Amino acid sequence: MKKFILHNPTILHFGQGVIEDLAKSASKYGQKAIIIYGQGSVKKHGYLDAVINELSKAGISHVEYSGIKSNPVIDDVYKAVEVCKKENIDFIIALGGGSVIDSSKITSLAYASDIDPKDMVLYKAEPTKKVPLLAILTLAATGTEMNPFAVIQLNDKKKKLGFYSPLAYPDESFLDPTLTLTVPADYTAYGIVDLIAHAFEAYFAAGDDNSLNDKFVAAVVREAMEYGPLLVDDLNNLRLREKIMWAATNALNGLLFYGRETDGDWGVHNFAHNISLVFDTPHGATLSIIYPAWMKHFKHRLKYRLELLGYLLFNESLSADQTIEKIEAFFSSLGAPVRMKDIGITSQGDKELLLDQLKYDSPQGFNIEMNNEDYEQILDLAWG
Ligand code: NZQ
Ligand code: ZN
Repeated sequence: MKKFILHNPTILHFGQGVIEDLAKSASKYGQKAIIIYGQGSVKKHGYLDAVINELSKAGISHVEYSGIKSNPVIDDVYKAVEVCKKENIDFIIALGGGSVIDSSKITSLAYASDIDPKDMVLYKAEPTKKVPLLAILTLAATGTEMNPFAVIQLNDKKKKLGFYSPLAYPDESFLDPTLTLTVPADYTAYGIVDLIAHAFEAYFAAGDDNSLNDKFVAAVVREAMEYGPLLVDDLNNLRLREKIMWAATNALNGLLFYGRETDGDWGVHNFAHNISLVFDTPHGATLSIIYPAWMKHFKHRLKYRLELLGYLLFNESLSADQTIEKIEAFFSSLGAPVRMKDIGITSQGDKELLLDQLKYDSPQGFNIEMNNEDYEQILDLAWG
């Protein structure tokens, strides 16, 4: 195993009703908060009122910044930083899914460090400080609630970027599965795909001498495969929401990644971000298309790892092809797309547009490198 340091500073409050811990926690961080949220779901479903109610119990005043879009853009971060400055806030409450929490992470660092957000995510300016960030998660998928990553789009640079800073961990995260009961079937499925894809990114890291982590990967994916389909058919089932929420957090809080030769692979994520950038496709829907295509394309190189994965996930001896087939069939059974046509993208023009973007961005895995020919052949498989 590669040597590693394990340090995850996020305090996690997990379970039904944990929102009631908010007043006590928030009062540690100051007297004035900004609540950052998305395009209205938290208002519609009463989560915003519940948060405001908690803050008022602690005598904490607040301002709001709303409108963060799914596949978030840096422009909103600039606007949120302006509100932070004008209102002189003490801390940030991110209320939403990955898009809101990621935008809030970048806001927290850029505001506190007084640096340009774009320079920061392009690693031209290093953050030195943060304002405290409390994350209240409403969608189980990304793991951002307990990790130091943020993903953001820079449309003028034609980039959807993953950013890392050791300061970007939320200080405290509140994971109440009742807040996820209102997530519709499509985003529920995309969340399940996303968490499985994170486990795969860990699994396809360089080196294969990490048997315990491989078993962690299998445990997380098997959990999602067992309970995910039940949840998609029974969206109001709190017990199932809870299981998927916990699986999603563990898929990308470091547990599956420690000690591997590279920090995962991430080639599929980096490839798939370009689909979101060009077509504004939900993140999980890009992964259910590209993961099987990437596995098929690299199946000779990944033969041993795919066979082992088949055994770990399905408890039987499977070839690489059979393993891929079962994974693709699973994504399909959730109602997630597995070909570009499933998201309404069929034309040759769109394919060329995407290929041009891939050649421009040149997405890579830490383990499996890709070139223009690989992009083209993976796209052929995704077009089906
Ligand atoms: O905007 P609102 O109205 O809130 O609606 C959202 C949005 O339309 C809705 N939603 C969220 N919670 C809901 C709900 N609707 C009903 N009830 C609820 N409780 O769901 C839609 C999707 O929200 P979004 O936050 O975009 O989804 P997700 O959590 O999947 O986040 C996706 C973003 O995270 C990035 C992705 O690339 C994408 O930009 N990722 C972040 C990672 C990280 N920071 O570690 C890792 C991931 O691999 C991923 O790249
Ligand atoms: Zn992801």
